[in-house]
Amino acid sequence: MRFPDDVPVLTDDVVTLRAHTEADIDAVHTMCQDPEMQRWTTVPVPYRRENAVTFLTEIVPNGWRDGGMWAWAIEYDGRYAGTVDLRDGEGGVGEVGFAVAPDARGAGVMTRALKLVVRYAFDVLSWDRVIWRAFVGNWGSRRVAWKAGFRGLVVVPGGGRARGVRHDEWIATVGRDDELEPQGHWWAVPELEGDGIRLRAFRATDAKRVVEACNDELTQHWLAGLPSPYQLSDAEAFIESRKDNQASGEGVSWAIADTESDELIGCVSVFDMNNRIDKTLAEVGYWLHPEARGRGVMSTAVRLLVPQAFKPVEEGGFGRRRLVLFAAEGNTASARVAEVNGFTAAGVQRAAGPLRQGEYADIHCFDLLAADRA
Ligand SMILES: CC(C)(COP(=O)(O)OP(=O)(O)OC[C@H]1O[C@@H](n2cnc3c(N)ncnc32)[C@H](O)[C@@H]1OP(=O)(O)O)[C@@H](O)C(=O)NCCC(=O)NCCS
Repeated sequence: MRFPDDVPVLTDDVVTLRAHTEADIDAVHTMCQDPEMQRWTTVPVPYRRENAVTFLTEIVPNGWRDGGMWAWAIEYDGRYAGTVDLRDGEGGVGEVGFAVAPDARGAGVMTRALKLVVRYAFDVLSWDRVIWRAFVGNWGSRRVAWKAGFRGLVVVPGGGRARGVRHDEWIATVGRDDELEPQGHWWAVPELEGDGIRLRAFRATDAKRVVEACNDELTQHWLAGLPSPYQLSDAEAFIESRKDNQASGEGVSWAIADTESDELIGCVSVFDMNNRIDKTLAEVGYWLHPEARGRGVMSTAVRLLVPQAFKPVEEGGFGRRRLVLFAAEGNTASARVAEVNGFTAAGVQRAAGPLRQGEYADIHCFDLLAADRA
């Protein structure tokens, strides 16, 4: 291929992908000063003007001539807005890489550009599969990949590398027959408020209160799966992992906070939303900080979340058909939360709930159907 003459122009009428020119040097140089760019990609740091010159006059043209990298400049709103490239492709499988200039982010530019190059990889380069890779924590990139139909996300510990340092890596792919549309749900955490409490997203600053609540004797007794003792690092990992829970569609956890002080007094979650057999199911689970017990807080929290769980996805809900809730034999307070919220006692599973001392408690099952409330 001749550069730039043979570089195809790809467009969806909002975003246009074209050959880079030397006129892009300053814009590339500026974009690569961005801390996000340096954190999440493998660009040289510090990034000097000569790095941009080499990239645009050698690396990119050679990629097209030799057929090992196909890089386009992203044109949006009449200016250079980033770069997207395809790489390798041996055996019909290759990778995609991308970056958008800070002042063009959040406008859907990358999602559009990504779909255009993925189509090109399948239709023109005849690839069977495109691989997306990002360092764990690059939520912007993960969201773009999800929106463009990448799926089957896995974490490879230490799988990524930048400037001699290893990073945990996310990898997902899309195949030639796959739809370039989001697979599965990526839940948001709507704020719900009533009777003096607010259900809101967790924050890093909630960690200390989470430790207090999860080290409490009663919490430890009934939730035998919690680490013991429960450390600050456990709380931080729990809070951080909520994002992944939402992004994978698995569940949503709310911090229950006092409306006045906004201090955390508990946690309520819906989870198991990717259940293998029933995609319309969710389980409800919870714990309260010991200071907040005995005054109806959890009954209120569940009352607030039930309509959200049943509301159709198109209306911002979780589209559930059936909620289940489990309380171990003897956990009267938990069973009461289910009953006051209209759940039906649906039987007892014998010796189903592990306790700390190697014993198993009978588990009381409760369920609530969307149809019960119709
Ligand atoms: C990642 C990046 C390319 C996204 O580009 P973009 O043009 O802003 O992406 P889009 O506008 O198409 O965003 C798609 C979605 O991601 C969301 N998003 C973007 N940045 C986000 C972030 N940091 N955290 C969470 N979501 C984010 C957007 O809100 C949007 O979702 P919505 O449509 O539901 O609102 C850009 O932030 C970037 O260049 N980052 C630095 C380089 C980089 O990380 N490259 C990828 C390496 S793997």
